[in-house]
Amino acid sequence: MNDYLNIALPKGRLGEKVYSLFESIGYGCPELLDGGRKLIFENAENKVRYFWAKPSDVAIYVERGAADIGVVGKDILLEYSPDVYELCDLGFGKCKMAVAGKKGLRLPTDRTLRVATKFSHIAWDYYSKQSRDIEIIKLNGSIEIAPLLDLSDVIVDIVETGATLRENGLVPFETICDISARLVANKAAYKFKSESIDRLLKYTTEFVSENTK
Ligand code: PRP
Repeated sequence: MNDYLNIALPKGRLGEKVYSLFESIGYGCPELLDGGRKLIFENAENKVRYFWAKPSDVAIYVERGAADIGVVGKDILLEYSPDVYELCDLGFGKCKMAVAGKKGLRLPTDRTLRVATKFSHIAWDYYSKQSRDIEIIKLNGSIEIAPLLDLSDVIVDIVETGATLRENGLVPFETICDISARLVANKAAYKFKSESIDRLLKYTTEFVSENTK
């Protein structure tokens, strides 16, 4: 049981892409592609066990050791600072964390800036470095609605293609940072399973550098 490598994958398109990377470097688990609602899969041959977790929960599984390694967006690492090792940038899921708002917006000078976001910590950090007073309006999704309904002045959110902003008449004002998927490891597992984690890391970085040339 303990000689298995336990891998938490983010459910969805990113996770499927990451799984095909792992499959192509020798960590396949054919059952995983069967579809259905099953969430845990293992392959006794190469001693690998995969879990499909909600993307924002992957870091929790890894931090607490329920998974040895996992794949997490840099946005989650910046927002929650989980106590895990960040092993490498997978170069997938590239997007930006940005400030956006209505075209032509004049930022208020006589009152606190209202910022709607799922990423309170990232927003606080960004504005506190500019000594800008803000009020955070914490939302869980569809953040783009907030400035349209005057719930906020701006949003801090992920921009990938820019389509959601465009189709809602919003524009990006500033980029806070670049985001992409990261391979992370549980700290204790990295010590006790160093050989197998290092092997997977080596194959992964080779694959990533081959495919980003
Ligand atoms: C994310 C993000 C933006 C959108 C950006 O939302 O919060 O709304 O994707 O992508 P785009 O630039 O390619 O349009 P997600 O789909 O995760 O849903 P959410 O509204 O529930 O956060």
